[in-house]
Amino acid sequence: MASSSIESGTHHSVLLTEALDALRIKPDGIYVDGTFGRGGHSRKILEKLSPRGQLWVFDKDLQAIQSAQLLAAQDARVRVIHDSFERLSDYLVPSGFSGVDGILCDLGVSSPQLDQADRGFSFSKDGPLDMRMDQSQGPTAAEWLAQVSETELAEVLWRFGEERFSKRIAKQIITVRVHTPIHTTGQLAKIILDAMPFKDPHKHPATRSFQAIRIALNRELEGLENFLKTVPNCLNPGGVLAIISFQSLEDRCVKQTFRTWVQGEVDTRPRDLPIAYQKPETFFSWGIKRVGASEDEQRVNPRSRSALLRSVVKCDNSIAKDDDENSR
Ligand SMILES: C[S@@+](CC[C@H](N)C(=O)[O-])C[C@H]1O[C@@H](n2cnc3c(N)ncnc32)[C@H](O)[C@@H]1O
Repeated sequence: MASSSIESGTHHSVLLTEALDALRIKPDGIYVDGTFGRGGHSRKILEKLSPRGQLWVFDKDLQAIQSAQLLAAQDARVRVIHDSFERLSDYLVPSGFSGVDGILCDLGVSSPQLDQADRGFSFSKDGPLDMRMDQSQGPTAAEWLAQVSETELAEVLWRFGEERFSKRIAKQIITVRVHTPIHTTGQLAKIILDAMPFKDPHKHPATRSFQAIRIALNRELEGLENFLKTVPNCLNPGGVLAIISFQSLEDRCVKQTFRTWVQGEVDTRPRDLPIAYQKPETFFSWGIKRVGASEDEQRVNPRSRSALLRSVVKCDNSIAKDDDENSR
């Protein structure tokens, strides 16, 4: 592996200042970077931590983990975990912690993953059709495409890519694979192109399908949903969860979950029932409702155009309780 692929300079971290502001770092706190990548956000978090602070970094990608290990070798505050951030709760109790003070997840793929043809994420660079974030396990995109049914493939392209020609593309892939195994990104991009009745002049025809296959293969949405189920219990009172997403499905999931945490479940009972409305008990408040990249950032890093940051803060019940007792 080329050393440049694990160095920090090959990825522009998005919404760096905004994400750091959202985390409201306590210098002695314990923080989690759920998506280390090349550590742009992690390095900024470390700058704000005291020698007593800690930073746990997760990534599924082996190259990202190698990059994180280089950082950990120079900084004893860093702990490196090769796993999905959705399993954070599994690491807390065995390590003697009930919670952390802040978590950042910068979802999706990194620039090095997209830029290296041999990772198979990019339709514009011909390479083996891999697309796995974690190269140590699971089927490659080529293996998955060789056995998936036409119905399931069309469903994936529609659900995760919002691709309106999902059925045509699925049919074309299944037709081709009968006589020619699909091994490369170039082959797949060409099959998709041929299946399109007309092209969007503003987008490469394979954009949506590649995104959809990547999300399905890496269980990206499922991982995010699992994480959001357990993460409230992983935060200390006053702790912050900040998430940067790059596509509408993820952002919708984050937005709706955060809204429920802050506002409580919507009361769906019929309005004419003789039951007094009870304001639901909630345990979170808004940090940042929604912020995107500035025009300056978008100019320097066009990939930041679709990035959206949202954050929530876990209510500090202990402080609230003390205040109540003091006011009696
Ligand atoms: C957008 S990049 C993060 C870039 C990073 N913030 C930086 O400044 O360098 C996303 C990274 O998250 C990783 N990733 C995506 N989903 C993950 C998950 N569920 N668990 C762990 N890592 C994940 C990817 O492998 C990739 O390295």
